[in-house]
Amino acid sequence: MSKNRDAKPLLAALRGERQQPPPLWLMRQAGRYLPEYRALRARAGSFLDLCYDPALAAEASLQPLRRFALDGVILFSDILVVADALGQKVWFQEGEGPRLEPIAEGDALPVFDEERQRRHLAPVYEAMERVAEAAPAGAAVLGFAGAPWTLATYMVGGGRGRDFTAVKSWAYREPESFARLIETVREAVAAHLIAQLDAGADLVQVFDSWAGALPEAELDRWCIEPARRLVSDVKAARPGAPVILYPRGAGVLCERFARETGADAISVDSTVPPVWAAAHLQPHCAVQGNLDPVALLAGGDALERAVRTILETLVHGPFVFNLGEGVLPGTPPENVATLCDLVRRRGGRDDG
Ligand code: CP3
Repeated sequence: MSKNRDAKPLLAALRGERQQPPPLWLMRQAGRYLPEYRALRARAGSFLDLCYDPALAAEASLQPLRRFALDGVILFSDILVVADALGQKVWFQEGEGPRLEPIAEGDALPVFDEERQRRHLAPVYEAMERVAEAAPAGAAVLGFAGAPWTLATYMVGGGRGRDFTAVKSWAYREPESFARLIETVREAVAAHLIAQLDAGADLVQVFDSWAGALPEAELDRWCIEPARRLVSDVKAARPGAPVILYPRGAGVLCERFARETGADAISVDSTVPPVWAAAHLQPHCAVQGNLDPVALLAGGDALERAVRTILETLVHGPFVFNLGEGVLPGTPPENVATLCDLVRRRGGRDDG
């Protein structure tokens, strides 16, 4: 882990300290809304080539920090590198998103081999070392991974569309074999998070982007319980390392993630009312979120109003300002600059 951890506002918020203004970073802050990213991407060739080029991946991670005074820098990578490291065929279809050769119920399950994964993902860890070395002093460095359930939706669904019928019917029909898949992915994810901390990350975030596809009993088994084990494995291996969970779409069940997993923060999507999050989540851990990315894209008065509502409600407890979902590709970069300014001014500091 990097030096100067005490001087990073994002880490202070995750320790439970209330701050005015709150620390700010954005999910998917590196990416297609930035012209300099598009230029880098064109140089790299494929998206995965960019993820596996340490110099270019580090540069993509740092690009948003050159423009905006953000309190966090997230490694440029993707949740699907873990599926790739498990030996599944993964590629990114230009303009369409990820594709995987799907695993079906009854197929041989992938096998986690820690040594093989470490070798396969060595360029990712080298990129992390470079980011931690070059990050501005006050910016916390984030590693990340997909949650086992969300990775399984891609590994079984093949990446096409938002149809969870195949993965869910496997989970309902053959829970024992599905549990083995989730278990394998959980081990791979834990090792990946720990390796990123060893390479210089200050904290990690786990993206459970499709948690909202499950009713409570299944969410319990395939999301909450694996999250609890992930948090405890990471903290057992690297004591003090903060973990943020992002159970998108979990709604009121976010409270169970806050109470039962040991996470330092719950990152909430834009549908969660800030007043509810303040009452039900902040007593247990920090809250991160939850500006609608379309308000950021739209800008103007709507952006200002949305920012004010969130700040008024959540700055009274431990809070990290973020979006509820990732930055949209059409977002004008100047709106991100405006957001940074609004959070700094309205969040309690007058010196901009
Ligand atoms: O936050 C960051 O800036 C760091 C990088 C990052 C990427 N993906 C880069 C990326 C992170 C944290 C992710 C997480 C991710 N990837 C998630 C979880 C968060 C979420 O948005 O729900 C998921 C589900 C994926 C899988 C994935 N990767 C999809 C569905 C797609 C295609 C659609 C899309 O959102 O772009 C990707 C591709 C991808 N991952 C791009 C980037 C910058 C675009 C690739 C390109 O340059 O063409």
